[in-house]
Amino acid sequence: MDPKKVKPESIAAQALGWIDEKTRAITPAIHVSSTYLRDPDNQYRSGRVYARADNPAFDQAEAVLVQLEGGASAMLFASGMAAATAVFQALAPGDHVLAPKVMYWSLRNWLMNFATHWGLNVELIDMTDPAAVQAAIRPGKTKLVWVETPANPLWTVTDIAATAAIARAAGAKLAVDSTVASPVLTQPLALGADIVMHAGTKYLGGHSDLIAGVLVAREDDDFWRRIRTVRAQVGGTLGSFEAWLLLRGMRTLYLRVRQASASAQRIADHFAVHPLVEAVLYPGLPGSPGHEVSKRQMRGGFGGMMSVRTKGGEAAAIATAANVELWKRATSLGGTESLIEHRASVEGAGTPAPGDLLRLSVGIEDADDLIADLEQALARAHAG
Ligand SMILES: Cc1ncc(COP(=O)(O)O)c(C=O)c1O
Repeated sequence: MDPKKVKPESIAAQALGWIDEKTRAITPAIHVSSTYLRDPDNQYRSGRVYARADNPAFDQAEAVLVQLEGGASAMLFASGMAAATAVFQALAPGDHVLAPKVMYWSLRNWLMNFATHWGLNVELIDMTDPAAVQAAIRPGKTKLVWVETPANPLWTVTDIAATAAIARAAGAKLAVDSTVASPVLTQPLALGADIVMHAGTKYLGGHSDLIAGVLVAREDDDFWRRIRTVRAQVGGTLGSFEAWLLLRGMRTLYLRVRQASASAQRIADHFAVHPLVEAVLYPGLPGSPGHEVSKRQMRGGFGGMMSVRTKGGEAAAIATAANVELWKRATSLGGTESLIEHRASVEGAGTPAPGDLLRLSVGIEDADDLIADLEQALARAHAG
């Protein structure tokens, strides 16, 4: 297949159409070797030495990701956290970085604790407001701006193009956690980002059966090579079987994300005007704070993630989650099955999630079934 001649849907469905030349197999073998043979003259002409640094099991998945994100180079990691933290570890102590106040809580905790103790100067700002980014950025001192959009758990939206312009003018890199949008809905590199990050655990894998992380870079530059060194030395390397599962999952990425987005839009529209619901947080709702920016930078849907604030406060929210029969009460997102969770219980102190908020990851079940189950769960929570 010539990836320049076909659409990303075709690239994903056939995983670039690669075949195993030795066996003519259409799906790849799983290479599990931890080490590679050195040539008799002491060279490593295969280009591979040791599988903490590099693994042929990564090649096809990384090549697919380069195409889907329009980048120059991709790297797989052992988890989304391993991918994200590798970007920060490629900086130097004393470097100033900007990150959003509303973001994936585990990474925020790592930034405010480990990374800060290690010497990074981390400043959390309202990343949805370009004026706030402009005011906080320090030309020459700010080395990285980290964006997550739409962002956990309120699904706030950051204008990637506007933020990229501010970062570039100040000499900073822009990295975007695009886990929730996936390459199907947003192309951060085309909008000016330098690095795009995904928790491959979510939509890319798509079946709640692996933990993986991904970075894709617009340019194979010094900063990217430092990140590669961090992966090789710190060892947040993905396993061979997980790389294979990730590639398998990506074949259906476009179908799954489009179905989840369409269902999420229906669910958001339905519950936005519901007597037992205080508010629905979803960028696809006209009039929601991120809607206009999302219309510009998301194509073909607004994603499968939303939050519902129930009437009746925290007790009603927890009771609603307790009463679902089809939705699964679990953390995570991006799988085929729909998940519901009381987010403040997960994040604890410092969470931006109000007590009445339920985070929903919409899967690929029938949307009417999902709506009916939430209806009965809300009704039972309020009856009890
Ligand atoms: C937006 C986002 N980024 C990063 C991560 C971290 O990914 P992982 O759990 O694979 O480390 C998550 C996990 O929930 C996430 O939702």
